Amino acid sequence: MYSEKVMEHFMNPRNVGEIEDADGVGEVGNAKCGDIMKMYLKIDNGIIQDVKFKTFGCGSAIASSSMATELIKGKTIDEAMNITNKAVAEALDGLPPIKMHCSVLAEQAIKSALLDYSKKYNVHIEGLDDVDFSDDHHDHIEEE
Ligand code: FES
Repeated sequence: MYSEKVMEHFMNPRNVGEIEDADGVGEVGNAKCGDIMKMYLKIDNGIIQDVKFKTFGCGSAIASSSMATELIKGKTIDEAMNITNKAVAEALDGLPPIKMHCSVLAEQAIKSALLDYSKKYNVHIEGLDDVDFSDDHHDHIEEE
């Protein structure tokens, strides 16, 4: 049911923890499963220098957040904005359809942390205004 990569990131998640002087902190959750994801970003010169996460949730959510941190570390803000839940799931060699919303949480956590950063430092980030932070992704996400 789960790819080796999902299992591996679940067993050995990367970048777990928090950044005390983070430039942006985002927290998202899914009301249906109750899982919560928190993401911390350290940003310098428009580059994500460091990222850490804390996820209280299922194995797929932990694997998704671990993979998401790897995908955005060292990247520009714009590159991080372009990371979709599908990219996270693909990097994990797929997630079962019922678990796709776990990867949505990872995408939203990144964007929520970027939103916090943009408010704190008064920086405009292209596309942030259109982000859907709702947690209603259980039923329709896999149909895309
Ligand atoms: Fe909801 Fe994984 S079951 S985030």
